[in-house]
Amino acid sequence: MAIRNIREEDDEILRKKSKEVLELDEKTRILIDDMVETMHKYNGLGLAAAQVGVLKRIVVIDLYDGKGVIVLINPVIKKQKGTQIVEEGCLSFPNKFAKIERPEQIWVEAKNINWEDIKLKGTGLLAQALSHEIDHLNGELFIDKIIPGTLEIIKEDTNNE
Ligand code: NI
Repeated sequence: MAIRNIREEDDEILRKKSKEVLELDEKTRILIDDMVETMHKYNGLGLAAAQVGVLKRIVVIDLYDGKGVIVLINPVIKKQKGTQIVEEGCLSFPNKFAKIERPEQIWVEAKNINWEDIKLKGTGLLAQALSHEIDHLNGELFIDKIIPGTLEIIKEDTNNE
C-alpha cells in the first residue's frame, strides 16, 4: 500500500468525468488499497479516485463510526430524498470549508470490493458523503454548491508572518 498524491484546487483532473470500471484487476485493487490508506492518512471521510489522479468510478468512505470502510465501484444514485444543510470540506481543498445543501437520504447501487452488486441507503452524514464522493466522479465539486457567505478559508500557521 502507498500514500498517493492528492490533486488539489484547480487541478483540471478534478473536473473530468470518471470512467466505468470494467473489471477488478490487480491494478484496480492496489488503487483501492492506496485510496483507503491515503484517506486515512489525511483523516478524510471519503475519497474519489479522481482525487488521486485516476479517472475510474471508485469511491471509498469511512465515517469512523466503527462500521469500517465502504468501497463503491461504479456507484449510481437511484433515489434521493429531503435536504440537509451541512458543513463540508474536501481533501482536495484542504483549507476551505463551507455550508452546502445535500440530500438527507440517498439510495445507491454499486459493486463492492468483491465485485458483488450491492444496494446502500445513506442518511445524514452517510448521505452527505455519498453525494459528495459521487459528485467527484462527475467532475462536480463542493465549491460549486457553497451557500453564499458561508465559505471559510483557514490560513495555515506560519512562523514568519
Ligand atoms: Ni471531496
